[in-house]
Amino acid sequence: MPALAIVGLQWGDEGKGKITDFVSDSADCVVRFQGGANAGHTVEFGKQTFKFHQVPSGVLHKKVTGIIANGSAVDPDELMSELKTLADRGYRISKFHISDRAHLVMPYHKQIDGLEESFKGGRAVGTTRKGIGPCYSDKASRIGFRAGDLLDVESLGPKVDMAVRMKKAYASALSGELEVDADTLMKKLVEWSRALSPYITDTSHLINDMASKRKNVIFEGAHGLMLDIDHGNYPYVTSSNIVTGNAFTGSGMDPNHRLSVIGVLKAYSTRVGGGPFPTELSDEVGEHLALKGMEVGTTTGRRRRCGWLDLFAAKYALSLSGATAIALTKLDVLSGIDRIKIATAYRYNGEKLKHYPQSVKVLENVQPVYRELRGWGEQLDEGVHRWTDLPVETRRYISFIEESLGVKAKRISVGHSREQTIIRGKLSFL
Ligand code: GDP
Ligand code: IMO
Ligand code: MG
Repeated sequence: MPALAIVGLQWGDEGKGKITDFVSDSADCVVRFQGGANAGHTVEFGKQTFKFHQVPSGVLHKKVTGIIANGSAVDPDELMSELKTLADRGYRISKFHISDRAHLVMPYHKQIDGLEESFKGGRAVGTTRKGIGPCYSDKASRIGFRAGDLLDVESLGPKVDMAVRMKKAYASALSGELEVDADTLMKKLVEWSRALSPYITDTSHLINDMASKRKNVIFEGAHGLMLDIDHGNYPYVTSSNIVTGNAFTGSGMDPNHRLSVIGVLKAYSTRVGGGPFPTELSDEVGEHLALKGMEVGTTTGRRRRCGWLDLFAAKYALSLSGATAIALTKLDVLSGIDRIKIATAYRYNGEKLKHYPQSVKVLENVQPVYRELRGWGEQLDEGVHRWTDLPVETRRYISFIEESLGVKAKRISVGHSREQTIIRGKLSFL
């Protein structure tokens, strides 16, 4: 009974939150293993909407233990407010843990994120300004604060002094001034320690224990694979690995436990922030996707850029993810588009590319090769529960994607809520 990883196959916002919540009714544990409050995962059922940033999306199911594992960047202030919002809405999470090895997003990380972006000017990444890059930089530089430090907060004085001196110097080199001093920072750490210590533990041990007992463990990827720091469109990426392999590194799960993978693919493409986007649409179809798909960033409120589905990129992401099935989302948004295009390849300097390129310069100059399919007028968000309820053109669209990628769409989403989901076959333990 392998564990299951849920991985986004595009540039984020594929509907990972919805799919994670949907499959979590059979889960015992849902783990976030990378990213932080830069993620924004939406879950809807009935008339309720939840926006998860750090807490795993599966926790609305009573049986589920939520874990923020070591590969995450934990923003304590945001996490405390997320837990409070859930509690205020009647969801007091009883089983919740934070890895003692997870790095903390400090207040200066958020400020430095903004300063670095301003300093880069036209070369800015368009980050969420949640301090993610600076936090992971400090992790690699071995000067970060970890959740485990909050268990021994009295001994942190010298490290706080050093960090503040170092960050002051860096901020001033970026033409800024650090807004935090050592005393304020120490007070923050004490406040975080009081609030979060009960949750902090060795989560790798917990995850391995559950996996050994054949409990159902789900790994919820944050972001989309095309934003992976190694395999995405560097430098227009986030600062962690999104590839499935990081579910092991980012959680400490014994690699001998089998992990099966489902990729989440939106029926069209979106991207927030800067970076190449070969199938981007700036016409009325792009407008249709943005409006009908309500494509506004869950974390930053920025409008998402929209475009046709890019199967050349998705094939690349799929092979990196190891997914053997996909969840195809937001098909309902395509209703009303006469002819739908899907990119199947890229041309560069007149030649078809054999592999997805690493160079942003190349990606900015490729011409997508499109396949055009007939669209459908029917709305899909009501009365569609089975494969056979879908219009024939929608089924053709899905089959084309399945044949191109060589995997089956085992979950098909035609609306925001849990009920608007078609099940087609078994997934791992589900
Ligand atoms: P995530 O970051 O991958 O979890 O995705 P987000 O939550 O940021 O963005 C996806 C948005 O689409 C959310 O508002 C979801 O409620 C919504 N959504 C998910 N699946 C569907 C679907 O099949 N149809 C429609 N119309 N909306 C969906
Ligand atoms: P979910 O989990 C979409 C993008 C940012 C920016 C780049 C780097 O909702 O899919 P960062 O703040 O991480 O340093 O920003 O990555 N980005 C996302 N885009 N959805 C996300 O998360 C994202 N998380 C980061 O817009 O371009
Ligand atoms: Mg999102």
